[in-house]
Amino acid sequence: MPLPAQSQENLNSHPAVPALSAAQRSNLFPLTAAGYAWWRQRSLRALGADYTLEREARLFRARCSPRAGQRWLDVGTSAGFYAGVLARAGCEVLAVDISAPMLREGARREPDARIDWAQLNMERSDLPTGAFDGVTVGATLNETRGPAALLRECARVLRPGGQLWLMYLRRTGGPLQALFERPAAGGLNFPDPAWVQRQLPGLTRTDALAVGAVQFERYVAGAASSERETL
Ligand SMILES: C[S@@+](CC[C@H](N)C(=O)[O-])C[C@H]1O[C@@H](n2cnc3c(N)ncnc32)[C@H](O)[C@@H]1O
Repeated sequence: MPLPAQSQENLNSHPAVPALSAAQRSNLFPLTAAGYAWWRQRSLRALGADYTLEREARLFRARCSPRAGQRWLDVGTSAGFYAGVLARAGCEVLAVDISAPMLREGARREPDARIDWAQLNMERSDLPTGAFDGVTVGATLNETRGPAALLRECARVLRPGGQLWLMYLRRTGGPLQALFERPAAGGLNFPDPAWVQRQLPGLTRTDALAVGAVQFERYVAGAASSERETL
């Protein structure tokens, strides 16, 4: 698959590519990339959800059943957690991130020929429409400057019947979230699940699970189906 040509330079300044939030910029530093896997291993527990990475991987596999030969896109891959889970299930994976140091860290931690790594901003990706059987978005929704644009792009690249798996910190209305939403303190987003659902009009939410402030959701492109709310 031909990959779009976005460089470090146009990620930040090209008029056609969205600007970056402070949180996104912090991920461009090699030091952030080097420490990310350590934080990710502990982050959900630190945020009040009793989830190890192994448990999160089991939940994802149980809900999405990724299969050998499927083509998946991992959006904001960082250290490559979802890319690795998918590759071990036999999927072909395109792992994308705005951060070159994160991509290098991912490729180092998950050396697998089934994973391609590409630097691009998923708010405007130029990836082919309908090209993927599935898309994973692990917490990238919280960091991206334009979450609506990112969700629209994820929906566009899914084939009919394809799956979208989201993990994000949802809005709680707490003072810490209000602080980190400020542009100078990161410009993070804490979306409400109803808002997320409104951004995905062509998709059906089939699964929604809230654990502490952490939200796991599965959507299917086009399908109408009943929703599972708990584990
Ligand atoms: C919270 S980390 C994601 C961790 C990873 N998905 C996981 O589950 O372990 C967010 C990552 O998304 C990347 N990112 C943020 N906005 C992005 C965008 N618009 N397009 C692509 N990558 C983005 C950041 O550089 C960072 O590496």
